[in-house]
Amino acid sequence: MLHRAFCSDIVAETVVVASVLLAASGAQAQTPPYFPTSHAAVEKMLAMAEVKESDFLIDLGSGDGRIPITAAQRFGARGLGVDIDPQRIVEANDNARRAGVADKVTFRKENLFDTDIGRASVLTLYLSLKINIGLRPRILKEMRPGTRVLSNDFNMGDWLPDKWERVGDRVVYLWIVPTQVAGRWRLTFDAAEGARAADLKLAQQFQELSGSATIDGQAVPLRDGMVTGEQVEFVLDVGHGEAKRFKGRLVDGHLEGEGWRAIRQ
Ligand SMILES: C[S@@+](CC[C@H](N)C(=O)[O-])C[C@H]1O[C@@H](n2cnc3c(N)ncnc32)[C@H](O)[C@@H]1O
Repeated sequence: MLHRAFCSDIVAETVVVASVLLAASGAQAQTPPYFPTSHAAVEKMLAMAEVKESDFLIDLGSGDGRIPITAAQRFGARGLGVDIDPQRIVEANDNARRAGVADKVTFRKENLFDTDIGRASVLTLYLSLKINIGLRPRILKEMRPGTRVLSNDFNMGDWLPDKWERVGDRVVYLWIVPTQVAGRWRLTFDAAEGARAADLKLAQQFQELSGSATIDGQAVPLRDGMVTGEQVEFVLDVGHGEAKRFKGRLVDGHLEGEGWRAIRQ
């Protein structure tokens, strides 16, 4: 398991592998064929997502239903699987009944592009690079910050994963949907000499935060900026040689942490 800052090599490598698979599978036509995730990879995906009883898991293109069914069996999570192939739906419902979780998971024939994904706290995918990238704007807009998104084998292009793990010859990826904080903020914070203020300009690319702050008329760049779900973290050189780490979260439209607060301008 590695942090995303170290995983560009594996992403590049997997883009190449994924492209080969895409060509081989006909996934460019947006209908990846049925090929089940291995049981080891299912276990790994659920562990990386830290699935729990309160979760609602959606598997887009659910095949024989093994991901939602395992989440229900192991952790008591509820779930939904959709698949374009009616035979897969019959199979998945049979499997859910046999596993004794038919009260927790539902499978229905549906085109995954029509599925309301906003209610999921965990989303699982084993589709194609092209579909993952096509789903990206909806994931970022419609899913709650903190939602865990997992994909077997295919990454999300330049939206780098928060974590990835190898399972046999495959790679499993995890992204945590980041809250959106780009814009201008008025920052106030405690310092040794008393309360101070700054104008903060934040830019965001997926989980990466950049920007600058104007403190006492001086523009200083923001460093080590990162968004993880609802959590926000960055470092500013606030003067007198002090590098201050701001760690907090978005609460009712404000950013706040211990000893600091930022109001959207
Ligand atoms: C690679 S299999 C993955 C099955 C399952 N998620 C797993 O990981 O074991 C992809 C599945 O997506 C389904 N599928 C392909 N295009 C779809 C679409 N547009 N809408 C819904 N399901 C689709 C296929 O029928 C197939 O069952």
